[in-house]
Amino acid sequence: MSKFRVEERNDWRCWVTPKPLGNKPIHRWYIFPHSFTGEMVYALCDEWGVDHNDNILDPFAGAGTTLLAAKEKGIPATAYDISPLAVLASRVKCADYDLRRIEMMWQRLRKTMNPKQWDGAGKPYPELVQRALPGKLLGAFDGLGRNIADLGGAENERDFFRLALLATLPSFSRAVAAGGWLRWVSKRNGVLSIPSEFSSRVERMLEDLRSSNLHTGVLWRADKADARSLPDKEGTYSAVITSPPYPNRHDYTRVFGVELMFGFMDWEQTRRLRYQSFHSHPEARPERPMFSSNADYVRPRSLARAVAGMRQKGEDRRIIEMIDGYFLDMYLVLREAGRVCRRGARLAFVVGNAQYRGVAVPVDEITAEVGEQAGLECKKLLVARYRGNSAQQMGKYGRHPSRESVVVFRKP
Ligand SMILES: C[S@@+](CC[C@H](N)C(=O)[O-])C[C@H]1O[C@@H](n2cnc3c(N)ncnc32)[C@H](O)[C@@H]1O
Repeated sequence: MSKFRVEERNDWRCWVTPKPLGNKPIHRWYIFPHSFTGEMVYALCDEWGVDHNDNILDPFAGAGTTLLAAKEKGIPATAYDISPLAVLASRVKCADYDLRRIEMMWQRLRKTMNPKQWDGAGKPYPELVQRALPGKLLGAFDGLGRNIADLGGAENERDFFRLALLATLPSFSRAVAAGGWLRWVSKRNGVLSIPSEFSSRVERMLEDLRSSNLHTGVLWRADKADARSLPDKEGTYSAVITSPPYPNRHDYTRVFGVELMFGFMDWEQTRRLRYQSFHSHPEARPERPMFSSNADYVRPRSLARAVAGMRQKGEDRRIIEMIDGYFLDMYLVLREAGRVCRRGARLAFVVGNAQYRGVAVPVDEITAEVGEQAGLECKKLLVARYRGNSAQQMGKYGRHPSRESVVVFRKP
C-alpha cells in the first residue's frame, strides 16, 4: 500500500511516450527517446490553472517539449539541460522567425549544396564520428555544416538549418541508437541521398512554420545548466513540468554521441558531460553541490529495501551505486526546484519505475519520499501507463510490468 495518493490516468498513457510527437508540427523537428508530449503539459496547466501570468520551469529540457507547449499556450517558460544538443533543439523550436528570411536563406543554401565539393572533413573529428560516418559521409556532413555556417543571417536563423542537419545524421550513421546503446550496422544510406534527405527535413520545418499560428513575443529561455544547481533566484517559478532521465542505464551522451561530437564538442568534453550527468547510468560520477549538513538527505526505507534485495540477488556494485546516486540526485533536483519556486507552486516529475534482477525499484514512490524530504508536499502519483519488463528479465523473473507515473508536488 502506498502512503501517497495514487490515481490511475490511463488516458495519459500515450502522453508519456514520444510517439505522438512524430506527427506534431514543430515538436517533430527533433525528438528525444524519452520525450513526453505537449498534451501532457497542456493538461497539467489546465488542471493547475496555470496561465500567461505564470512562469514554468523545465530543468531537464530534452527536446524542449515543455518549453514549446508553454509557448503554444502563451505561458512564459524556461528550460535548462546539461546537453548542448538539447539546448539547441529547444531554442530552435521556440524561436520567432521571419519566415521570408528563412526561405531566402534556404534558397541560398540549396544553391551551394553540392556533393561534388564535399571533399573530406575540414577538421579532425573524434574516432566515433569517423567510424559512424565512413567514406565520403563525414566530408559531406562537414561540408554541409560549413555551407550553413557561411550562410550569413543571424545565429538563430543558421541554427534552424543546423538542427535539420543534426536530425538528418541518424539516417546515415553506422552507429544506430538501440535502447540505451549504439549498435553498429554496415549498410545505410549513401552520400548522394544527403541533399534529398536534408531538403525534405528543411521543407517539413518550413511547412510547419508556414502553418503555425504560435504566439510570438512569449517569454521563453533555453540555457545550459545542471538541474542540481540552477542560476535562478528564489521564488522565480510558479510551476515545474519535467522528466529527469530514468534509472535504466541509458546514457544520453552515448545515444547522442555522434551528434554531440559532430556538432558541439570533442571526446574529452563528451566524457566530462557523461560523468556530470544525472546518476541514471553507471558511468556517471557527478560533482554534486555541497550539502549544508549530512543530515539533509536520509536514504528512504523503500530504497534501502530495494538496494538490499538487489545486493542479495548479486547485482553488480556499479548498478547499486547508480540506484543510490540516482535518488541523491533526485533529492538535490527537487530541493533546487523547490528553492526556485514560489509558495503554492505545482511541480510534476515524470518518472519510470525500474527492475533489476527481478527486484522492483518503485521510482515514483521513492521520488515522492525524497521530494518531501526536500520540503515539498507530494499531492499524488498519477499512473499513466505500465511497461512490460525486458524479454530477458521476463524470461528469468516472470512478467512484472513497471509503471510510469507523474509525481505531483506542491511547494507548501
Ligand atoms: C528524459 S530527458 C527529457 C525529455 C524531455 N522531457 C522531452 O520531452 O524531450 C532527460 C534530459 O535530462 C538531461 N540531463 C541529464 N543530466 C542532467 C543534469 N544534471 N542537469 C540537467 N539536465 C540533465 C539529458 O541531457 C536529457 O536531455
